[in-house]
Amino acid sequence: MSGPSLNIADDIREILITSEAIRERTAELGAEISRDYAGKDVLLVCVLKGAMVFMADLMRHITIPVCIDTIAVSSYGAATVSSGVVRIVKDLDAPVADKHVLVVEDIVDSGLTLSYLRNYLFNRKPASVRICTLLDKPERREVSITPDYCGFVIPNHFVVGYGLDYQERYRNLPFIGIPHDYVWASNHNNHKQ
Ligand code: IMP
Ligand code: MG
Repeated sequence: MSGPSLNIADDIREILITSEAIRERTAELGAEISRDYAGKDVLLVCVLKGAMVFMADLMRHITIPVCIDTIAVSSYGAATVSSGVVRIVKDLDAPVADKHVLVVEDIVDSGLTLSYLRNYLFNRKPASVRICTLLDKPERREVSITPDYCGFVIPNHFVVGYGLDYQERYRNLPFIGIPHDYVWASNHNNHKQ
């Protein structure tokens, strides 16, 4: 095999987390968030693009009233390694002052993106800022950041699917998987978000 297949699932060496497991865990997180934030003015902030699939499912398991917003950040550097230099590509649409902000992320890796984002949001005087991530790779952490809600702790593998990409592909896989090695050799583009 020399490049990516027509069926993206064929590029996956191992399914790490099935759709069913994601669905179950997302329902649990939604119930937990609904309990913890009952009676509060909640703003869910989806970190584009990686968290959009998780956010779409998670919010439908939250039963209390919430508002939603989106933010897009981009880190400069190589395709699979966070450089720590973060740029806001798309800012929030509305002010967050006095709101209980829950940042919804796809994965915490080095932690550099979220630690930047957390400070950025704190400076806008919200009532609180907490983090809900689908995946956590604690082995790779470079700054001290612990998600308040976490779907799954995973080992140090680069994973794709359910919103997560490699060079903008594989976001539409319904599960989380590890690509075959030949995928790293193919080069679609160099943009990471
Ligand atoms: P951090 O700043 O190193 O924590 O990087 C977090 C961002 O890097 C995530 O929001 C993802 O966009 C990306 N990322 C980190 N690990 C993976 C992975 O295993 N698969 C896909 N994207 C990843
Ligand atoms: Mg991301």
